[in-house]
Amino acid sequence: MPDPHVHDALSKTDLLARKNEEALLGGGLARIDAQHKKGKLTARERLDLLLDEGSFEEIGKFVMHRARDFGLDKEHYLGDGVVTGYGTVHGRLVYVFSQDFTVFGGSLSETHAEKIVKIMDLALKNGAPVIGLNDSGGARIQEGVVSLGGYADIFYKNTLASGVVPQLSAIMGPCAGGAVYSPAITDFILMVEDTSYMFVTGPSVVKTVTHENVTSEELGGASTHSTKSGVTHFTAANEVVCIQQLKQLLSYMPQNCEETAPAQSYTAEGDESRPVLDTIIPENANQPYDIREVVEGLADAGSFMEVHRNFAENIVVGFARLAGRSLGIVGNQPAVLAGVLDINASTKAARFVRFCDAFNIPLLVLEDVPGFLPGTDQEWRGIITNGAKLLYAFCEATVPRITVITRKAYGGAYDVMNSKHIGADLNFAWPSAEIAVMGAKGAAEIIFKREIAAAADPAAKLQEKVADYQEKFATPYRAAHRGFVDEVILPAQTRQKLIRAFKMLENKVDTLPRKKHGNIPL
Ligand code: HXC
Repeated sequence: MPDPHVHDALSKTDLLARKNEEALLGGGLARIDAQHKKGKLTARERLDLLLDEGSFEEIGKFVMHRARDFGLDKEHYLGDGVVTGYGTVHGRLVYVFSQDFTVFGGSLSETHAEKIVKIMDLALKNGAPVIGLNDSGGARIQEGVVSLGGYADIFYKNTLASGVVPQLSAIMGPCAGGAVYSPAITDFILMVEDTSYMFVTGPSVVKTVTHENVTSEELGGASTHSTKSGVTHFTAANEVVCIQQLKQLLSYMPQNCEETAPAQSYTAEGDESRPVLDTIIPENANQPYDIREVVEGLADAGSFMEVHRNFAENIVVGFARLAGRSLGIVGNQPAVLAGVLDINASTKAARFVRFCDAFNIPLLVLEDVPGFLPGTDQEWRGIITNGAKLLYAFCEATVPRITVITRKAYGGAYDVMNSKHIGADLNFAWPSAEIAVMGAKGAAEIIFKREIAAAADPAAKLQEKVADYQEKFATPYRAAHRGFVDEVILPAQTRQKLIRAFKMLENKVDTLPRKKHGNIPL
């Protein structure tokens, strides 16, 4: 006689196996094929690439939507269009959600949202990053307001988690409507070229409202958002590269705001002298050079990962390592607009500074700035408010902060770019530094205006006054006499000086006055 209990147990196991198989298929083979034909991976394939092999643990695999309208009572998919759970990247815990475009176009239902919120709650309680792989047609249209509510729950959670755990968003397909605002609140956005786009309203709505003819790519593709709007921090040629970028980005960050980023093993390079740095600054102070050469010359070999590479190129920001330790770098870029500070450069750098400060990543500022960009365009669009963002961000940063003035430090920009007066711990200057209210010619023209006009040879007089001003102020020594610059150092010595200085600052403790929160000029 067969044992009925054994039979029962087997059929229950079969049922589980069947459900597991069904869940893996998402919206079915035909839709998976369609996804592949568009050059896109599925939600699960992306997670396989992202997470250490065998580390993924899924949560909510059998969740289904509860909606009944517009045929949804007959159409159900296990998981409801998003794969959620946790795993490891390079051995470190991360929480993940990966939207499945094969299920209702990855659209967000009430239950889809609940799954995302659940892993965000876990991430907050356990102090680990959240990575979202986004591929979604926005609010699940059939569900109406409960879907909108689901989005709002996610935005709320994103905001609570901001500054507590790193949040990274990869955009790997369409992100329309509500789907863009969660990524926008997170710390970094990465987009895949040609297959992803982000916009609040798509081309057809744009056509109706503003009568503009625009393609999805032009309106909100990776290129648009990396160059024009600055919405995305990184772009990748394909999904595999995008996921590699995600992993690299994570490597510079701690798990949460209470920790510091993991250090990589590092073997000292003799006296750490880098003679190449002596060759970068041109003889003529008006000639450009690429600040990235200085970054590469200072940082551990191959460690620099630039953020926002194609946006506001007059300032360069990114992560690097110095003697194995994670560092945030902000550098004026003399090769673009002479490194002037404008609205976009200020907001780009301010956001980066705030990220580093929130997550205990020390800041290195490389300064070569002729000032703020003059003109009606900048003034009318609010260079005052926007420039103040960068000033504010540096002022409130409590992480170790060091500035190296490589050449120009002029005007208000001298103050803004992590000057000692606003809390930098150490300021170095190279012998090529010029620290003054403005360039010598402009200064001479203003303060000696009458004397020059009255001179027998005004041009010669101007020349004489420029030379005089240059000798007095176009050097680092006035600032060094005051202690605004702590040491004037040779470029080749800079790496060694920085390694020692950041080591000295390793245990820095600094606090802000008690407050609910500051009011950064937005
Ligand atoms: C339900 C959706 C859906 C949605 C797509 N689908 N979007 N189902 N709700 N929002 C379904 C389609 O019916 C289709 O189902 C499948 O997903 C694939 O969609 P296709 O249109 O065939 O794919 P494609 O041509 O690649 O176009 C993708 C798309 C397009 C650009 C995303 O589907 C689209 O424009 N969707 C609507 C976008 C939108 O307006 N969303 C609402 C935004 S408002 P089948 O069964 O055929 O596979 C919003 C408000 C939130 O989000 C505000 C919070 C602040």
